[in-house]
Amino acid sequence: MRTEFSFANLAEIETELLAVLAADAQTAKEADARPAPALLTGNEAVKKAVADVLASGEFKAGANETLLLHGPAGLKAKRLLVVGLGKAGKATAHSVRSAAGTAVRFAKPRGIREVALALPLLVSDGLDAAASARAAVEGALVGDFDPDTYRSDRKDQSVQRFTLVAPESADKKALEAAFAEGVIVGESQNFARSLVNEPGNKLTPTILGQRAAEMAQEVGLGWEVHSTEKLHELKMGAFWSVSQGSEEPPALIVLRYEPDGVAKDGPVLGLVGKGITFDTGGISIKPADNMEKMKYDMAGGAAMIGAMRAIALLKPKVRVIGIVCAAENMPDGKAQKPGDVQTAMSGKTIEIINTDAEGRLVLADGLAYAKQLGATHLIDAATLTGACVVALGMVNAGAFSNDDATYEKFDTALKVSGEKFWRLPLGDEYMEMIKSDIGDIKNTGGRWGGAITAAEFLHAFAEETPWVHLDIAGVAWVEDARPYIAKGPSGIAVRSILEWVRSY
Ligand code: BES
Ligand code: MN
Ligand code: ZN
Repeated sequence: MRTEFSFANLAEIETELLAVLAADAQTAKEADARPAPALLTGNEAVKKAVADVLASGEFKAGANETLLLHGPAGLKAKRLLVVGLGKAGKATAHSVRSAAGTAVRFAKPRGIREVALALPLLVSDGLDAAASARAAVEGALVGDFDPDTYRSDRKDQSVQRFTLVAPESADKKALEAAFAEGVIVGESQNFARSLVNEPGNKLTPTILGQRAAEMAQEVGLGWEVHSTEKLHELKMGAFWSVSQGSEEPPALIVLRYEPDGVAKDGPVLGLVGKGITFDTGGISIKPADNMEKMKYDMAGGAAMIGAMRAIALLKPKVRVIGIVCAAENMPDGKAQKPGDVQTAMSGKTIEIINTDAEGRLVLADGLAYAKQLGATHLIDAATLTGACVVALGMVNAGAFSNDDATYEKFDTALKVSGEKFWRLPLGDEYMEMIKSDIGDIKNTGGRWGGAITAAEFLHAFAEETPWVHLDIAGVAWVEDARPYIAKGPSGIAVRSILEWVRSY
C-alpha cells in the first residue's frame, strides 16, 4: 500500500472512495430528540452530499459502522463512505485508527484499490489533529493486512493507494511529521504480523534469525544471530534445554540500536522476546486440539523485531538492545524431561516440572544476557501462559513490573498506542509457589495464579533491574475478524514498546 498525505479541498479529490468520519452526537439526555450524527469535516460539499441520509436516522455513527453513497452529488469522488467513530466526546486516537482500518477493509473485498480519508479535524478534546493523522495511517496499514499468503489462487486485494486529506489551511509540517511516523509504526506492526503468520515449517528459528538480520541491514541496526555453540559458550542452560529436543538449531538474535550523541552512562533498554517458532509442549505434550495455533508462540519475539525496526527509523535518543530467544519446543529422544534440572546462565538451577512451560526458560537466559550486555531497564513480551488468557480473556494482555516508575512510563505509552494491557501483581507469596525441593526454582507453580508465578519466575532472572513483563498469549492472535483488522496475528505490543522506548 502506498501512502500519501495531501492538502486539498475534499470536493475536488478524484478517487474511487472518499471516506469521512462521523461521530454519534447523541447523549442520553438527547435520546428522544435523536440529533443527526456529526460529520467530522468542515467541507460544505461533503456535508451537503450526506445531509439527507444523516437526517434520516438510518446511520447512527456507531464505532466502525459504515454507510456508502455512490456518485455523491457535488463531489468528484466516485463513492463516499461515512465511517462511525462512536460517541462524540469519547473519540480517541484509537477510534480514528479503527475507523481508518474499517474504511480500508470495506474497500478490499469490493475491488476498490484506492481510498482517500478526510482527516477528522473536529473531534474531541483529547485528540489533536497530529495524533489523528498518525493514527489514521497506522489504522489504514493495519487494516490492509490479510493473512492468506499461501492461498494458491490468492488475489491480492490490497488497497494500492491510501491518501489522507487535510484542508489547505492545516498545519502542514506538524501533520506531515505525524503522518510519516504513522507509516513507520503501521509498517513495523505489519512486519511483526507477517512473521507471526508464518507456519512453523516455513519459519524455523534459523529463518526467523535471517528475517531479523535482513530487516536490520535494511534499516541500519547492528545485528548478530548466534546458535548452539554460543548458547553453550554463554552457559545458557535454560534456553538450550528447550532447544535440545529439536532438529532445528536455536537462534539467539541480537539487534542493536546505538544512536550517536547519547550519554555513555545513560539508560540502555533491553527488549527481550520469546521466539518459540512452534510449541508442541515437548515431552509434556499438548493435546492435538488447537495445537496448530502454537506457530504464534514467537509473537513476543516478533513484537521486539517489529519495535526495533520502528526504533531504527524513528531514531529516539536512547540505546536499545533487542534480544529474541528462538527455539522449537519438540518431544524427542534428546528432549528434556520433567524432573530434569537445568542451570541457567545466571547460575540459578531450575527443576523442570513441565516441559510445556518453556517460554520462561528461554526468557530467563534472554533477560540475563540483556543485563550482561548492559541493559539498565528491561521489557519482555511473550505468549507465556494460558492462565493469563483465563484471567483477562482476549481483550487485555497482562503486564507485570518490579518497578512502579518504569511501569508508569509503560502506562503512559499505552495512551498513545491504544493497546490494552492490565497490570497484575507480583509478590513474594507467589515466588514461594515456585521454590524447588531439589534446586533453586521450579518452572511451574501449579494451577492457581499461573500467569503470576510465570512472571515471578522471570522476576528471578530480571532480579533488581527495572523490568516490565508483557504476557500477550490472549491477544497476539485475533480469533474473530473485526471491521478494522483481519483474523490472524494482531501485532500487539509493537506500538506500546516503541512508545515506552521513546519515553526515555
Ligand atoms: N505458549 C504457551 C502459552 C499458551 C497456552 C498460549 C495456551 C495460548 C494458549 C506456553 O508455552 C505454555 O504452554 N504454557 C503453559 C504453562 C503451564 C505448563 C504451566 C500453559 O499456560 O498451559
Ligand atoms: Mn508451552
Ligand atoms: Zn509456549
